[in-house]
Amino acid sequence: MSDQKLSRIAVLNSDRCKPKKCGLLCRKCCPVVKTGKLCIEVTATSKIAFISEELCIGCGICVKKCPFEAIMIINLPKDLDKDTTHRYGPNTFKLHRLPVPRPGQVLGLVGTNGIGKSTALKILAGKLKPNLGRFSNPPDWQEILTHFRGSELQNYFTRILEDNLKAIIKPQYVDHIPRAVQGNVGQVLDQKDERGVKEKLCVDLELNQVLDRNVGDLSGGELQRFAIAVVAIQNAEIYMFDEPSSYLDVRQRLKAAQVVRSLLRPDSYVIVVEHDLSVLDYLSDFICCLYGKPGAYGL
Ligand SMILES: Nc1ncnc2c1ncn2[C@@H]1O[C@H](COP(=O)(O)OP(=O)(O)OP(=O)(O)O)[C@@H](O)[C@H]1O
Ligand code: SF4
Ligand code: SF4
Ligand SMILES: [Mg+2]
Repeated sequence: MSDQKLSRIAVLNSDRCKPKKCGLLCRKCCPVVKTGKLCIEVTATSKIAFISEELCIGCGICVKKCPFEAIMIINLPKDLDKDTTHRYGPNTFKLHRLPVPRPGQVLGLVGTNGIGKSTALKILAGKLKPNLGRFSNPPDWQEILTHFRGSELQNYFTRILEDNLKAIIKPQYVDHIPRAVQGNVGQVLDQKDERGVKEKLCVDLELNQVLDRNVGDLSGGELQRFAIAVVAIQNAEIYMFDEPSSYLDVRQRLKAAQVVRSLLRPDSYVIVVEHDLSVLDYLSDFICCLYGKPGAYGL
Protein backbone atom coordinates (compact mmCIF):
# COMPACT_ATOMS: atom_id res chain seq x y z
CA MET A 1 0.00 0.00 0.00
CA SER A 2 2.81 2.39 0.85
CA ASP A 3 3.46 4.75 -2.03
CA GLN A 4 6.59 6.89 -2.18
CA LYS A 5 4.70 9.70 -3.88
CA LEU A 6 2.08 9.95 -1.15
CA SER A 7 2.28 11.22 2.37
CA ARG A 8 -0.27 10.84 5.10
CA ILE A 9 -2.32 13.18 7.21
CA ALA A 10 -3.90 11.59 10.27
CA VAL A 11 -6.36 13.82 12.10
CA LEU A 12 -8.00 12.93 15.40
CA ASN A 13 -11.18 14.65 16.47
CA SER A 14 -10.44 15.50 20.10
CA ASP A 15 -14.12 15.75 21.03
CA ARG A 16 -14.95 12.33 19.64
CA CYS A 17 -11.94 10.25 20.63
CA LYS A 18 -12.78 8.54 23.97
CA PRO A 19 -10.11 5.97 24.83
CA LYS A 20 -11.93 4.99 28.01
CA LYS A 21 -15.04 3.90 26.15
CA CYS A 22 -13.96 2.38 22.84
CA GLY A 23 -11.95 -0.69 23.78
CA LEU A 24 -9.01 0.90 21.90
CA LEU A 25 -10.18 -0.70 18.68
CA CYS A 26 -8.00 1.52 16.51
CA ARG A 27 -4.79 0.28 18.09
CA LYS A 28 -6.00 -3.34 18.17
CA CYS A 29 -6.78 -3.46 14.47
CA CYS A 30 -3.85 -1.49 13.02
CA PRO A 31 -1.70 -3.81 10.87
CA VAL A 32 1.42 -1.73 11.57
CA VAL A 33 0.90 -2.01 15.34
CA LYS A 34 0.60 -5.79 14.84
CA THR A 35 4.14 -5.83 13.45
CA GLY A 36 5.32 -4.26 16.70
CA LYS A 37 5.65 -0.62 15.60
CA LEU A 38 4.12 2.31 17.49
CA CYS A 39 1.86 3.49 14.68
CA ILE A 40 -1.05 4.16 17.05
CA GLU A 41 -0.27 5.04 20.63
CA VAL A 42 -3.17 5.02 23.03
CA THR A 43 -4.13 3.46 26.36
CA ALA A 44 -7.36 3.57 28.31
CA THR A 45 -5.94 6.46 30.35
CA SER A 46 -4.86 8.57 27.33
CA LYS A 47 -6.76 11.76 26.65
CA ILE A 48 -6.65 11.08 22.94
CA ALA A 49 -5.00 8.63 20.55
CA PHE A 50 -1.82 9.54 18.66
CA ILE A 51 -1.21 8.28 15.14
CA SER A 52 2.25 8.39 13.61
CA GLU A 53 2.01 9.74 10.09
CA GLU A 54 5.49 8.37 9.35
CA LEU A 55 4.57 4.78 10.24
CA CYS A 56 0.95 4.74 9.01
CA ILE A 57 0.51 2.98 5.66
CA GLY A 58 -2.89 4.55 4.97
CA CYS A 59 -4.92 1.33 4.98
CA GLY A 60 -7.90 3.08 6.60
CA ILE A 61 -8.85 0.14 8.84
CA CYS A 62 -8.77 2.22 12.04
CA VAL A 63 -11.07 4.79 10.43
CA LYS A 64 -13.71 2.10 9.97
CA LYS A 65 -13.18 0.42 13.35
CA CYS A 66 -13.31 3.49 15.59
CA PRO A 67 -16.82 3.41 17.09
CA PHE A 68 -16.90 7.21 17.41
CA GLU A 69 -15.68 8.11 13.92
CA ALA A 70 -12.86 10.09 15.47
CA ILE A 71 -10.19 9.37 12.84
CA MET A 72 -9.49 10.78 9.39
CA ILE A 73 -6.64 9.33 7.33
CA ILE A 74 -5.88 11.13 4.10
CA ASN A 75 -3.33 10.36 1.44
CA LEU A 76 -1.87 13.43 -0.19
CA PRO A 77 0.78 14.00 -2.85
CA LYS A 78 4.18 14.20 -1.17
CA ASP A 79 4.87 17.40 -3.10
CA LEU A 80 2.46 19.20 -0.81
CA ASP A 81 4.67 18.62 2.25
CA LYS A 82 6.97 21.47 1.32
CA ASP A 83 3.95 23.78 1.04
CA THR A 84 2.79 23.27 4.62
CA THR A 85 2.09 26.65 6.18
CA HIS A 86 0.69 25.76 9.54
CA ARG A 87 -0.36 22.96 11.79
CA TYR A 88 -1.88 23.50 15.23
CA GLY A 89 -0.39 20.32 16.76
CA PRO A 90 -0.07 16.54 16.31
CA ASN A 91 -2.96 14.91 14.38
CA THR A 92 -4.67 18.26 13.77
CA PHE A 93 -5.72 20.34 10.78
CA LYS A 94 -3.00 21.25 8.27
CA LEU A 95 -2.99 24.38 6.11
CA HIS A 96 -0.99 24.42 2.89
CA ARG A 97 0.11 27.58 1.05
CA LEU A 98 -1.50 30.97 1.69
CA PRO A 99 -3.61 33.44 -0.24
CA VAL A 100 -1.49 36.35 -1.49
CA PRO A 101 -2.90 39.82 -0.72
CA ARG A 102 -2.26 42.71 -3.13
CA PRO A 103 -2.04 46.33 -2.03
CA GLY A 104 -4.92 48.50 -3.19
CA GLN A 105 -7.20 45.53 -3.88
CA VAL A 106 -9.81 43.60 -1.96
CA LEU A 107 -8.95 39.90 -1.63
CA GLY A 108 -11.97 37.65 -1.08
CA LEU A 109 -11.59 34.23 0.55
CA VAL A 110 -14.17 31.55 0.02
CA GLY A 111 -14.38 27.87 0.94
CA THR A 112 -16.42 25.39 2.92
CA ASN A 113 -16.51 25.34 6.75
CA GLY A 114 -13.38 24.10 8.51
CA ILE A 115 -11.11 24.53 5.49
CA GLY A 116 -8.74 27.10 7.02
CA LYS A 117 -10.11 30.54 6.08
CA SER A 118 -9.91 32.01 9.58
CA THR A 119 -6.55 30.33 10.10
CA ALA A 120 -5.21 31.94 6.91
CA LEU A 121 -6.60 35.31 8.03
CA LYS A 122 -4.89 35.12 11.43
CA ILE A 123 -1.59 34.24 9.76
CA LEU A 124 -1.88 37.07 7.23
CA ALA A 125 -2.64 39.45 10.10
CA GLY A 126 0.62 38.45 11.77
CA LYS A 127 -1.36 37.29 14.82
CA LEU A 128 -0.67 33.59 14.30
CA LYS A 129 2.96 32.78 13.50
CA PRO A 130 2.99 30.07 10.83
CA ASN A 131 4.98 27.05 12.03
CA LEU A 132 5.38 25.45 8.57
CA GLY A 133 3.99 22.24 10.12
CA ARG A 134 6.75 22.05 12.76
CA PHE A 135 4.63 22.53 15.87
CA SER A 136 7.21 20.92 18.18
CA ASN A 137 10.15 22.83 16.70
CA PRO A 138 8.69 26.06 15.30
CA PRO A 139 10.78 28.17 12.92
CA ASP A 140 11.73 31.79 13.65
CA TRP A 141 10.64 34.64 11.36
CA GLN A 142 13.90 34.57 9.42
CA GLU A 143 13.24 30.98 8.43
CA ILE A 144 9.61 31.74 7.67
CA LEU A 145 10.63 34.57 5.35
CA THR A 146 13.11 32.27 3.62
CA HIS A 147 10.29 29.75 3.17
CA PHE A 148 8.21 32.35 1.31
CA ARG A 149 11.17 33.71 -0.67
CA GLY A 150 10.42 34.47 -4.28
CA SER A 151 6.72 34.97 -3.60
CA GLU A 152 4.89 38.23 -2.91
CA LEU A 153 4.31 36.86 0.60
CA GLN A 154 7.96 37.47 1.43
CA ASN A 155 7.46 41.20 0.81
CA TYR A 156 4.16 41.14 2.62
CA PHE A 157 5.50 39.56 5.83
CA THR A 158 8.67 41.65 5.68
CA ARG A 159 6.48 44.76 5.62
CA ILE A 160 4.42 43.50 8.56
CA LEU A 161 7.57 42.87 10.58
CA GLU A 162 9.78 45.80 9.57
CA ASP A 163 7.28 48.55 8.87
CA ASN A 164 5.08 47.42 11.74
CA LEU A 165 1.98 47.36 9.57
CA LYS A 166 -1.13 47.49 11.71
CA ALA A 167 -3.68 44.77 11.00
CA ILE A 168 -7.19 44.75 12.45
CA ILE A 169 -9.58 41.79 12.17
CA LYS A 170 -13.34 41.88 12.46
CA PRO A 171 -13.69 38.52 14.22
CA GLN A 172 -15.96 35.79 12.89
CA TYR A 173 -17.87 35.21 16.13
CA VAL A 174 -19.30 38.61 17.03
CA ASP A 175 -21.19 37.18 20.01
CA HIS A 176 -17.83 36.91 21.81
CA ILE A 177 -17.27 40.67 21.53
CA PRO A 178 -19.31 41.89 24.56
CA ARG A 179 -16.98 39.97 26.90
CA ALA A 180 -14.02 41.98 25.62
CA VAL A 181 -15.62 45.42 25.31
CA GLN A 182 -16.78 47.76 28.07
CA GLY A 183 -19.18 50.67 27.66
CA ASN A 184 -21.86 51.68 25.21
CA VAL A 185 -21.67 51.77 21.43
CA GLY A 186 -21.14 55.53 21.15
CA GLN A 187 -18.36 55.59 23.74
CA VAL A 188 -16.43 52.76 22.11
CA LEU A 189 -16.72 54.31 18.65
CA ASP A 190 -15.62 57.72 20.01
CA GLN A 191 -12.53 56.14 21.56
CA LYS A 192 -11.54 54.43 18.32
CA ASP A 193 -12.43 57.16 15.84
CA GLU A 194 -8.96 57.71 14.38
CA ARG A 195 -10.31 58.51 10.92
CA GLY A 196 -13.02 60.98 11.93
CA VAL A 197 -15.70 58.96 10.17
CA LYS A 198 -17.98 58.07 13.06
CA GLU A 199 -21.01 59.99 11.84
CA LYS A 200 -20.88 58.60 8.33
CA LEU A 201 -20.30 55.04 9.54
CA CYS A 202 -23.20 55.26 11.97
CA VAL A 203 -25.50 56.25 9.12
CA ASP A 204 -24.18 53.61 6.71
CA LEU A 205 -24.26 50.85 9.31
CA GLU A 206 -27.54 51.94 10.96
CA LEU A 207 -25.97 52.43 14.36
CA ASN A 208 -27.48 55.79 15.35
CA GLN A 209 -30.45 54.16 17.06
CA VAL A 210 -28.17 52.07 19.32
CA LEU A 211 -25.45 54.61 20.24
CA ASP A 212 -26.54 54.68 23.91
CA ARG A 213 -26.97 50.92 24.10
CA ASN A 214 -24.60 48.75 26.12
CA VAL A 215 -22.50 46.56 23.80
CA GLY A 216 -23.64 43.52 25.76
CA ASP A 217 -27.29 44.28 24.95
CA LEU A 218 -26.95 44.40 21.15
CA SER A 219 -28.71 41.90 18.89
CA GLY A 220 -26.68 39.74 16.50
CA GLY A 221 -27.11 42.06 13.54
CA GLU A 222 -26.41 45.17 15.61
CA LEU A 223 -23.31 43.53 17.03
CA GLN A 224 -22.14 42.64 13.52
CA ARG A 225 -22.57 46.22 12.26
CA PHE A 226 -20.92 47.57 15.40
CA ALA A 227 -17.98 45.18 14.91
CA ILE A 228 -17.57 46.29 11.29
CA ALA A 229 -17.67 49.94 12.41
CA VAL A 230 -15.03 49.38 15.10
CA VAL A 231 -12.62 48.09 12.45
CA ALA A 232 -13.50 50.63 9.77
CA ILE A 233 -13.19 53.61 12.13
CA GLN A 234 -9.52 52.93 12.88
CA ASN A 235 -6.36 53.67 10.93
CA ALA A 236 -4.61 50.55 9.71
CA GLU A 237 -2.67 49.22 6.76
CA ILE A 238 -4.41 45.84 6.78
CA TYR A 239 -8.16 45.50 7.26
CA MET A 240 -9.68 42.04 7.62
CA PHE A 241 -13.30 40.99 7.90
CA ASP A 242 -14.14 37.41 8.86
CA GLU A 243 -17.71 36.79 7.65
CA PRO A 244 -19.16 40.32 7.79
CA SER A 245 -22.54 39.26 6.34
CA SER A 246 -23.75 36.94 9.08
CA TYR A 247 -26.92 38.23 10.81
CA LEU A 248 -27.37 41.00 8.19
CA ASP A 249 -30.21 41.31 5.68
CA VAL A 250 -29.51 41.82 1.99
CA ARG A 251 -29.60 45.61 2.10
CA GLN A 252 -27.37 45.76 5.17
CA ARG A 253 -24.93 43.35 3.52
CA LEU A 254 -24.57 45.65 0.57
CA LYS A 255 -24.05 48.67 2.82
CA ALA A 256 -21.45 46.77 4.82
CA ALA A 257 -19.72 45.80 1.58
CA GLN A 258 -19.56 49.46 0.56
CA VAL A 259 -18.01 50.37 3.91
CA VAL A 260 -15.42 47.63 3.46
CA ARG A 261 -14.52 48.80 -0.05
CA SER A 262 -14.24 52.40 1.16
CA LEU A 263 -11.19 51.35 3.20
CA LEU A 264 -9.07 50.72 0.11
CA ARG A 265 -6.04 52.93 -0.40
CA PRO A 266 -3.25 52.32 -2.91
CA ASP A 267 -1.00 50.96 -0.16
CA SER A 268 -3.54 49.24 2.11
CA TYR A 269 -4.69 45.63 2.14
CA VAL A 270 -8.29 44.53 2.58
CA ILE A 271 -9.12 40.84 3.01
CA VAL A 272 -12.60 39.43 3.47
CA VAL A 273 -13.89 35.93 4.26
CA GLU A 274 -17.41 35.63 2.94
CA HIS A 275 -19.86 32.79 2.29
CA ASP A 276 -22.42 34.91 0.43
CA LEU A 277 -21.13 34.64 -3.14
CA SER A 278 -23.02 37.65 -4.48
CA VAL A 279 -21.61 39.82 -1.69
CA LEU A 280 -18.16 38.34 -2.29
CA ASP A 281 -18.39 39.06 -6.00
CA TYR A 282 -19.41 42.64 -5.33
CA LEU A 283 -16.71 43.14 -2.68
CA SER A 284 -13.65 41.55 -4.18
CA ASP A 285 -11.16 42.55 -6.83
CA PHE A 286 -9.86 38.99 -6.82
CA ILE A 287 -10.83 35.81 -5.03
CA CYS A 288 -8.95 32.89 -3.54
CA CYS A 289 -10.79 29.62 -3.10
CA LEU A 290 -9.68 27.27 -0.33
CA TYR A 291 -10.28 23.57 -0.86
CA GLY A 292 -9.31 20.26 0.73
CA LYS A 293 -11.06 18.20 3.37
CA PRO A 294 -12.89 20.11 6.11
CA GLY A 295 -11.24 19.71 9.50
CA ALA A 296 -8.29 17.79 8.02
CA TYR A 297 -6.44 19.91 5.50
CA GLY A 298 -6.88 22.99 3.34
CA LEU A 299 -5.02 24.39 0.34
N1 LIG B 1 -6.28 26.22 17.97
C1 LIG B 1 -6.63 25.18 17.22
N2 LIG B 1 -6.18 23.93 17.50
C2 LIG B 1 -6.52 22.87 16.73
N3 LIG B 1 -7.30 22.95 15.65
C3 LIG B 1 -7.77 24.15 15.33
C4 LIG B 1 -7.47 25.33 16.08
N4 LIG B 1 -8.09 26.39 15.49
C5 LIG B 1 -8.74 25.89 14.44
N5 LIG B 1 -8.55 24.56 14.33
C6 LIG B 1 -9.11 23.66 13.30
O1 LIG B 1 -8.60 24.05 12.03
C7 LIG B 1 -9.59 23.82 11.03
C8 LIG B 1 -9.76 25.08 10.21
O2 LIG B 1 -10.33 26.08 11.03
P1 LIG B 1 -10.70 27.54 10.50
O3 LIG B 1 -11.34 28.25 11.63
O4 LIG B 1 -9.49 28.15 9.90
O5 LIG B 1 -11.73 27.19 9.35
P2 LIG B 1 -12.73 28.14 8.53
O6 LIG B 1 -12.49 27.87 7.09
O7 LIG B 1 -12.60 29.55 9.01
O8 LIG B 1 -14.15 27.53 8.94
P3 LIG B 1 -15.58 28.27 9.15
O9 LIG B 1 -16.12 28.55 7.79
O10 LIG B 1 -16.38 27.25 9.89
O11 LIG B 1 -15.32 29.51 9.94
C9 LIG B 1 -10.85 23.38 11.76
O12 LIG B 1 -10.93 21.98 11.70
C10 LIG B 1 -10.60 23.82 13.19
O13 LIG B 1 -11.27 22.97 14.11
S1 SF4 C 1 -9.64 6.90 17.76
FE1 SF4 C 1 -11.53 5.81 18.22
S2 SF4 C 1 -10.90 3.72 18.63
FE2 SF4 C 1 -9.06 4.99 18.74
S3 SF4 C 1 -8.84 5.56 20.88
FE3 SF4 C 1 -9.99 7.21 19.92
S4 SF4 C 1 -12.15 6.62 20.20
FE4 SF4 C 1 -10.92 4.79 20.59
S1 SF4 D 1 -4.71 3.80 8.52
FE1 SF4 D 1 -2.69 3.89 9.47
S2 SF4 D 1 -3.09 4.07 11.64
FE2 SF4 D 1 -4.99 3.38 10.69
S3 SF4 D 1 -4.92 1.14 10.81
FE3 SF4 D 1 -4.06 1.68 8.84
S4 SF4 D 1 -1.87 1.87 9.19
FE4 SF4 D 1 -2.84 1.88 11.19
MG1 LIG E 1 -13.83 30.83 9.96
